[in-house]
Amino acid sequence: MRIFNTTQTLGEIVAIMPKASEVFKAYQIDFCCGGNRSLEAAIKEQNLDEQEILSKLDAVYEATKKLKNTVDFRNLSSSELIDYILNTHHSFAKQIVPSISEMTTKILRVHGSHHEELFQVHKLFHGLKTELEQHFIKEEEILFPLMKQYDTEPSKELFDKIKKTMKETEDEHDGAGDILKELRKITKDYVVPDDGCATYELAYKQLQELESDLFEHIHLENNILFKRFD
Ligand SMILES: [Fe+2]
Ligand SMILES: [Fe+2]
Repeated sequence: MRIFNTTQTLGEIVAIMPKASEVFKAYQIDFCCGGNRSLEAAIKEQNLDEQEILSKLDAVYEATKKLKNTVDFRNLSSSELIDYILNTHHSFAKQIVPSISEMTTKILRVHGSHHEELFQVHKLFHGLKTELEQHFIKEEEILFPLMKQYDTEPSKELFDKIKKTMKETEDEHDGAGDILKELRKITKDYVVPDDGCATYELAYKQLQELESDLFEHIHLENNILFKRFD
């Protein structure tokens, strides 16, 4: 029996089963910023095999069902979910971004003359870095405190205020998603050239780790937390 069907949206599927994100990542299906699309639309867009994807999703579902203590993020209060996002995803990004910054600068200096795309990688990444820094400040200082307040003191006025701020942060998610796509394109899916050094390799590896973590992160915000204030 099929657990999932293609009329469900990508965001819905990952909300039901967070581990579905692994299947989507493997096929490079964007489930965070493009989370409102149906699975069917995503499959058509990328010319994928529908039965293959559905079987993989079912297999992951069966495997996760056996695991105890899996957190269903939908059951957390907004305050709990926010704390999880901060402790997991914001802290990871804050750790890895400075390291990537240093390495993309270093490989540009050493390999830039032979690999011109590194100028673009450096520029795109640092654009993303600035965006993320400002975005995190906005969430941590403005949006999340309002959402936490709503947990204990809900009001129409507060709801409207949250909704207004949320729109901006959602647009920023799209902006970050676009930069990540561009980085993937320019690096040809992060393939390190034969003459690339260990730093080159590590920089590309960490860029992919950041991408993967941001996908999970934006998914929790766009498809679960923000949906409560839509
Ligand atoms: Fe965030
Ligand atoms: Fe965010």
